[in-house]
Amino acid sequence: MIKHTRIPALLLFVALFFAACKDQDGPLPQPDPTLYERLGGVDAIALVVDKFLANVVADDAINARFAATVADPFRTQLLRNNLIDQICAGTGGPCQYKGKTMLEAHTGMNITDAEFNALVGDLVAALDFYNVPQQEQDELLAILGPMKSDIVGQ
Ligand code: HEM
Repeated sequence: MIKHTRIPALLLFVALFFAACKDQDGPLPQPDPTLYERLGGVDAIALVVDKFLANVVADDAINARFAATVADPFRTQLLRNNLIDQICAGTGGPCQYKGKTMLEAHTGMNITDAEFNALVGDLVAALDFYNVPQQEQDELLAILGPMKSDIVGQ
């Protein structure tokens, strides 16, 4: 049997115990969202790719490179799907890129620095069009940038 004089101390202990437990409640820590999530997922990436391809087709600096692609709806669709998968997979999304390696795809084209920069400019214009923030743009370009050595001068 607990002595009456000890009851206040016991109550204080119980109160402190529950107060300490309550402090540990609250939201569980969430992992940082991936670039894929911050871009808005595959639907947002598809919108950017469509705008990007429209910019490329309107860009006299490089559109001749894509004349045969644009003339063939199947090829155009394949390039679109490959670009969406490539960006989706590269940014941490659930897609799988099933196209050629960048070296395989661009070997024999002898693409110049200026053409590479023109294409990147067309991509940045598409990202700007959809108000993609600078941080996400920088992260995406940092993923695509290292591909340059497999694309230019091959
Ligand atoms: C970071 C830059 C680039 C990326 C990420 C990229 C990505 C790709 C991808 C994913 C493909 C499809 C590969 C496949 O068919 O399996 C492709 C094909 C192609 N790329 Fe690039 N590319 C880049 C730069 C360039 C540049 C600068 C040019 C020319 C100015 C270019 C011209 C082409 C052409 C003509 C094709 C073939 C399209 C077709 O099959 O009809 N690419 N590229």
